[in-house]
Amino acid sequence: MDIRPCRETDLELLETHMPSPGQTHRNAMRFDRQQEGLTTFLIAWSGEIPVGTAQILWQGCAAPEINQCFPACPELNGLGVWPPERRSHGIGTAIIHAAEAHLQRRGYRRIGLGVDDANHRAAALYLRLGYQETGCHYLDRYHYIDDHRTRHEVADPARFLIKQLPAAPIRGTAPAE
Ligand SMILES: CC(C)(COP(=O)(O)OP(=O)(O)OC[C@H]1O[C@@H](n2cnc3c(N)ncnc32)[C@H](O)[C@@H]1OP(=O)(O)O)[C@@H](O)C(=O)NCCC(=O)NCCS
Repeated sequence: MDIRPCRETDLELLETHMPSPGQTHRNAMRFDRQQEGLTTFLIAWSGEIPVGTAQILWQGCAAPEINQCFPACPELNGLGVWPPERRSHGIGTAIIHAAEAHLQRRGYRRIGLGVDDANHRAAALYLRLGYQETGCHYLDRYHYIDDHRTRHEVADPARFLIKQLPAAPIRGTAPAE
C-alpha cells in the first residue's frame, strides 16, 4: 500500500472517493494546512484510489488542556478509512505505522492521539498497536457545515493516548552484535 503526503493534484480524486462531509471542504482545508507547514496530510492509495487519510498535527493536539500537558507531542488526527467495506483489512494500521515513521524521521520519540469515549473499536486498535492511556480526558471540539450551509458545533468527550517511539535506525549501520 502506498501512503504518502497529499499533493494538490490528488484533491480531485480524493473528493471523488472520500468526499468531504456536507460543505466543509475538509480535504482542501487539510491540504492548505499542510502547505502552511502545520501538518502532514497522509493519503493511503489502493492503486489509483484513495482509501484512507490521516493528518499529523506537528504542533500537537488542538485542545489546549492536552497541549499544555503534552507540549511538543505531535498528534495523529482524523484517521479514517473509506468506504466502510475497506475497513478491517489493515489500512488503518498501515497509516498509523506510516505516520509513526514520519515522526521518527524528524527525531520525535512520542506520538499522541485522541479517541472518542464512544469509539471502542478504534481505541482497541490503538491499544493493540502500543498506544497507552494517559488518563487525560477532554472535549474534542470541531464544527461541520451541512448541505444546507448550517454550521454545527460539536464537543465529543475523548481521551488522549500516547505511544513512545524508538529512535529511527541510522541508514547504513549494522545492528550491534
Ligand atoms: C478506525 C479505522 C481508521 C481503523 O482502520 P481499519 O483499516 O479498519 O483498521 P485495521 O484494519 O488496520 O485494523 C482494524 C481491524 O482489522 C483487523 N485486521 C488488520 N489487518 C487485517 C487483515 N489483513 N485482514 C483482516 N483483518 C485485519 C484488526 O485486527 C482489527 O480488528 P477489529 O476489526 O476487531 O477492530 C477505521 O475503522 C475507520 O475509518 N473507522 C471510522 C472512523 C474512525 O473511527 N476513525 C478513528 C477516529 S479516532
